[in-house]
Amino acid sequence: MVALARKAPRIPAPAAAPAKFSDDAVAGLTAMPKRVPAKYFYDAAGSTLFERITELPEYYPTRCEMRILRDNEDAIVKLVPAGSALVEFGSGSSKKVRILLHAAPNLACYVPVDICAEMLEQEAAELRRDFQRLSLLPVVADFCKPFDLPPAARLARVRVGLFPGSTIGNFEPYEAATFLRHAARILGDGAILIVGVDLIKPPEILHAAYNDAEGVTAAFNLNLLARINRELGGNFNLATFEHHAFFNRERNRIEMHLASLKRQQVRVAGETIEFRAGETIHTENSYKYSIGSFTALARASGWSPLAAWTDPQNYFSIQAFTFANEKPATPPD
Ligand code: AVJ
Repeated sequence: MVALARKAPRIPAPAAAPAKFSDDAVAGLTAMPKRVPAKYFYDAAGSTLFERITELPEYYPTRCEMRILRDNEDAIVKLVPAGSALVEFGSGSSKKVRILLHAAPNLACYVPVDICAEMLEQEAAELRRDFQRLSLLPVVADFCKPFDLPPAARLARVRVGLFPGSTIGNFEPYEAATFLRHAARILGDGAILIVGVDLIKPPEILHAAYNDAEGVTAAFNLNLLARINRELGGNFNLATFEHHAFFNRERNRIEMHLASLKRQQVRVAGETIEFRAGETIHTENSYKYSIGSFTALARASGWSPLAAWTDPQNYFSIQAFTFANEKPATPPD
């Protein structure tokens, strides 16, 4: 007992924190190079900061995607048959889906799927108020992994997946392919998938979008350390870390990092993490595609392209696909 007490006590994570966050954070921070999965940005504080990012003058993706949705509302809604279940992956704010919900009133149900339960509840409450006749069936899940749809969605005529915001750009291309295969399995035969995909563009525009003048993106990035402090008993001093974001041209992705300004040790979930001066934690990749490169990825996962729309500047795209299981070969007579 006495001997054990000499060791620094393990600070238990609060019961509300999913065990997985502490496992992923410790594994990532003890790896070389250090990394933490980008999905952990989105606690309540992170989701609020992300909402502020979407309103920044430099951050074009949300505005462009909203414009594409509004300009092509009729054509997009034609892909959503009456009686279908609309399944939104990583719903976050309901701003985008509202456009479709207004235009496509005959849905069997709307199933927003998100990792952040608080955000999901808040948006669901507002949607319930504004769309009283809509059957709203929120699911708290990490959509990086397969999950079950509510029975009403499984029984609907068709399932239409909506994956807006270029969240798919956070995945490595091979993970995006895995997600697309999982989505096909979850949504089933005859499914439709509508995906928002950020496009390759001049690096200056990309750089500005992830290095805004107001520093909101920096605060969003640093909130990851604040969240580790709050939920995993961490003692990161946020003033000793700096937001870095740059376009990696070879891999067509924005990389976000948090750089330690000095050599230091940090405690996280009872572990000691060593930083060299200048060493970074890689916190996010945001892959950019062309229409063609994304279509190729989707095709390789079994999806056939139906349509693609862009904004007038060609900054962002919404791409639609359909999934049909190959018919079993007819046996010879
Ligand atoms: C929500 C993943 C699309 O990659 O642009 C915004 C997240 N990161 N600013 C993006 C983000 C920094 C965003 N996605």
